[in-house]
Amino acid sequence: MSKNSIQIFDTTLRDGEQVPGCKLNTEQKVTIAEQLDYLGVNVIEAGFPVSSPGDFKSVQAIANIVKNATVCGLTRAVENDIKVAAEALKTAKTPRIHTGIGTSDSHIKFKFKSNRDAIIDRAFEAVKYAKSFVEDVEFYAEDAGRTDNDYLARVCEAAIKAGATVLNIPDTTGYCLPSEYGAKIKYLKENVKGIENAILSCHCHNDLGLATANSIEGVINGARQIECTINGIGERAGNTALEEVVMVLKQHPYLNLDTSINTKQLYGISQLVSENMGIYTQPNKAIVGANAFAHSSGIHQDGVIKNRETYEIIDPKDVGVTESAIVLTARSGRAALAYRAKNVGYELTKLQLDDVYANFLSFADKKKEINDNDIHEIIATSNVYQ
Ligand code: KIV
Ligand code: ZN
Repeated sequence: MSKNSIQIFDTTLRDGEQVPGCKLNTEQKVTIAEQLDYLGVNVIEAGFPVSSPGDFKSVQAIANIVKNATVCGLTRAVENDIKVAAEALKTAKTPRIHTGIGTSDSHIKFKFKSNRDAIIDRAFEAVKYAKSFVEDVEFYAEDAGRTDNDYLARVCEAAIKAGATVLNIPDTTGYCLPSEYGAKIKYLKENVKGIENAILSCHCHNDLGLATANSIEGVINGARQIECTINGIGERAGNTALEEVVMVLKQHPYLNLDTSINTKQLYGISQLVSENMGIYTQPNKAIVGANAFAHSSGIHQDGVIKNRETYEIIDPKDVGVTESAIVLTARSGRAALAYRAKNVGYELTKLQLDDVYANFLSFADKKKEINDNDIHEIIATSNVYQ
C-alpha cells in the first residue's frame, strides 16, 4: 500500500517565537529558515508581517531565500493584515496566506462581541480577499478545539467556498483529549461540504501535554498537515514538537503515513533553535534531549551493550545523534564499567573487574556521574593495579 504523505508545516518562527523573551533577529530567522528548508519541511510559517516592521522584514527576507518550501505569513481576518502579508510574501516562489478568526463561543462573545453568523461572514470575506493576492490560502478557526462541531463545519464550508486550500483546526488552548480531537477531524472530513477541495491541518498546543498525541490522532482520522515547532517551543506549554510527530510516523510504518523530513538533521536543528532562542532543551525531551539515548541503570546498560534494541526503539543515528551513551553512576553495573573502561584503553579480566568495580562504587556514591578521568583514577587506585 502506498503511503499517504503528511505535510509538515513548521511554525517555529511564528508560533514558536511567541515564547516570552525569545525574540530572534532577521539574520537568525533566515539562518533557521534555511535549515528548515534543508530539513525538508513543506511549509515555513515565517511570521506575522503586520505585527511589526521587524517581522515584516524577516518574512520578506525568508520569502527571498527559501528554495523549496512554501513560505507562509499569518494574518487576522482583517484587510490590512492580509494586504501587508501579501506584500511581504511577494517574492516567495510559493506563497501562502494564513488567515482566520476565533470560532469558539468564548472567542465570539468576549473577543469579538459578535455572533456566529457575523463570524462566518468575516471568515468568508477574509479568505476571499487573501485569494485575490495568492492561490494558496489557509484558514484557521482559532480555538476550534472548544468550538462545537456543527458550527465549525459551517465555518469550514464558508472558508472552502471562498477558496481556502487548507483548513487549520487549532486546539489553541491545548484542551482536547486525543480521542476528542481525532473525532473532530473525522466529523469535519465526513460532514463539511466541499472538503475534497481542501486539506485539514492539525495545530495542537501542549497545555495538558497532549499536543503530539492529538496531532497523531488528527492524521489517523484524515488530516493531512501537522503544524509544529522545533523542540515543541511556543507560548505557555508550547506547540506540537516537529521531531516527535515525524518520528512517531516513521517508527509506526503500518499507519501508512509518511513525511518528507530528513530525520538525520533533527538533532542539529534542535541545537540550532535552542542556541539562537536561548532556550535550554530539557534533558528528558523525547528525540533530542541530552538523555534521549543515555542509559544509566545497570539492567538497561547490560541490555544495550548486548543489543541496542533491548532498550532503544530508535537508532540514534537516524536522528543525527552519533551514538547511545552509557552513563556511569552508582546505579551502573559491571557490564557498563567494563564497556567504558575498554573505551578508554583497559581490557579488564573478570577478576580485575570485580576489584575495580568495588572501588568504582565507592567513587560513584560520592559523585553524580563518573567521567573518563575518574575511570583512570579508579583503575589506578584499585588493588589489582597496584
Ligand atoms: O493556536 C492557534 O490558534 C494559532 C492560530 C493563530 C493559528 O496559533
Ligand atoms: Zn498556535
